[in-house]
Amino acid sequence: MKTACVILAAGEGTRMKSSTPKVLHPVCGRPMIAYPVELALGRGYGPVVVVVSKAADAVRAYLRDRFGKRVRIAVQDPPLGTGHAVLSARRALDGARGKLAILYGDVPLLAGRDLGLLQRAGGKAAVAFLTCRPEDPAGYGRVVRDARGEVVRIVEHADASAAERRIGEINAGIYLVDLPFVFRALERVRRANAQGEFYLTDLVEQARARGERVAGVARDDAAAFQGVNTRAELARAEALMNRRLVERLMKSGVTVLDPATTWVGPGVRVGADTVLLPNCLLRGEVRIGRECRIGPGAVIDNARIDTGAEVRAYSVLEGCRIGEDCVVGPFARLRPGAELGAGARVGNFVEVKQSRLGKGARANHLTYLGDATVEDGANVGAGTITCNYDGCDKHATVIGEGAFIGSGTQLVAPVRIGREAVIGAGTTVTSDVPPGALAVSRVRQENIPGYARRRKKSGRHKPARG
Ligand code: UD1
Ligand code: CA
Repeated sequence: MKTACVILAAGEGTRMKSSTPKVLHPVCGRPMIAYPVELALGRGYGPVVVVVSKAADAVRAYLRDRFGKRVRIAVQDPPLGTGHAVLSARRALDGARGKLAILYGDVPLLAGRDLGLLQRAGGKAAVAFLTCRPEDPAGYGRVVRDARGEVVRIVEHADASAAERRIGEINAGIYLVDLPFVFRALERVRRANAQGEFYLTDLVEQARARGERVAGVARDDAAAFQGVNTRAELARAEALMNRRLVERLMKSGVTVLDPATTWVGPGVRVGADTVLLPNCLLRGEVRIGRECRIGPGAVIDNARIDTGAEVRAYSVLEGCRIGEDCVVGPFARLRPGAELGAGARVGNFVEVKQSRLGKGARANHLTYLGDATVEDGANVGAGTITCNYDGCDKHATVIGEGAFIGSGTQLVAPVRIGREAVIGAGTTVTSDVPPGALAVSRVRQENIPGYARRRKKSGRHKPARG
C-alpha cells in the first residue's frame, strides 16, 4: 500500500519579513517547498498533499506549474496550528489508508535516509516521529520519556515546565502515522495550551490513551531537521545544502578546489575529472561532461557543456550549449540560445545570443553575435558586431563555412556571407557577399605628409601634460 503524505506549509513565516511566502524562498536556487515535495514523490508517496494558507496564491501557482497533478493542494483557513493543518488535508487525502507521512514545507534538508530510518524504526507504531538533540533546544517541542524510555508526550516550549525545558531531545516535526487513526485522534485534540493552537504533537497522548504504540526515533544529525524561520536560518540551510551537493559531486569524481565558495544547485550534474575552480555559481539544470575545467568565478544557469570543454574565468552562461573541447572566456557572455559546435572558441568580451557557432568556429575578442549562424571553421575578428535589431524586428546573419570576418566589422542583418568569403577590416556589410568574394566598404585612406609639424608651429596645439 502506498504511503500518503501531507506537507505543512500554511504557517505565516512572519519572521522572514518578506513579501514572498517563506516556502518560496530559494535554497540553492530552488524554492524551499520543492525539496519535501520532490522527496515525497521520489519515495513513491501518494497522494501528496500540500497544506497552504488562503493567501498563498503564489505557492499554489508554483506547485501547479512545477508538479501539475502530482501534488494536491489543501487550504487551511485560518491556520490554527499543526494539528488543524493535518485535519485540513483530510478531504484531499480522499480516504487514503495505511501510512501517512507528515513533513514540513520549511525543512528543506530532510533526506530520504531520514524517512527510511523513520519507516524502519517506527513503521509498526501508530505514531512515529523523528527526534534529535540540537545544540540549543530552545523553542522546540521536548520529548518527555518515562523511566523505561517510552515516549509519554511532547511538550511545546511555551507550555513546558523549567524541568521539561532542560530536556535536550526535541521533536523534529517529521511523522509517520496510521490512517485513519490520525483523523479520529486529531478530532479530539483541544486548544487548551499556551498558544491556543491545535497541536499535532498532542497525537502522542491520544495514541497512548488508546493503547496504541508511539515511537520517538532518534537521529543524530540535528542539522537535517533545521527549519527555516529567519533569514539567518535560510543562509545556514543554503550552506548545508550546498555542502551536501558539492560533496555528492566530489564523491562522483569531480575536483572542487574550494567547496565553501563553489555554489551548486540540485539540478547540477558534473562528469568525472572535471575541475570546478573557486567562486563558481551553477544553477538550474546544468549538465557538464567529463574532463571539463570551469571557472574561477563562472556563473552558469541551465546549460549543457560537453566533454573536455573549458569555461574560463568570470564567464556568464545562461540557457546555452557548449560542444566538446570548446573554449569559452575569460569574460564571455553566452545568453539563451547560444550553441557552440565542437572545438569552437568564444573569447573575452564576446556576447552570443540565439546564435549557433559551427565546429571550430572562432569569435575571440570583443564581439556581439545575435541571431546569427556561424558555420564550421569561420573566423569572426575582434570587434565584429551583428546589427540584428532595427528597432522593431530581429534579423538573421549567416556567416558561411570558413569565412573570414575582418576586425571592426558591422554585419547589418538580414545578411548572408558566403562560404570562404573575406570581409575587410572595418567594413559595414549591408548586402549579401557571394562565396569566395572579398567585401570592403571604407573610405580610402589619405596621408598628409608633414601635418603634425605644421600644426605645432601654428601654436594651436599644446602637448598634454601628466
Ligand atoms: C513544531 C512542533 C514542535 C517541533 C517543531 C519542529 C507542534 C505543535 N510543534 O513547532 O514540537 O519541535 O515543529 O520544527 O507541532 N503550519 C501550518 N499550519 C499551522 C501552523 C503551522 O501549516 O496552522 C506549518 C508551518 O508552515 C510549518 C510547520 O507547520 O511548516 C511547523 O509550524 P511551526 O509553527 O514552525 O511549528 P513550531 O511551533 O516550530
Ligand atoms: Ca518551526
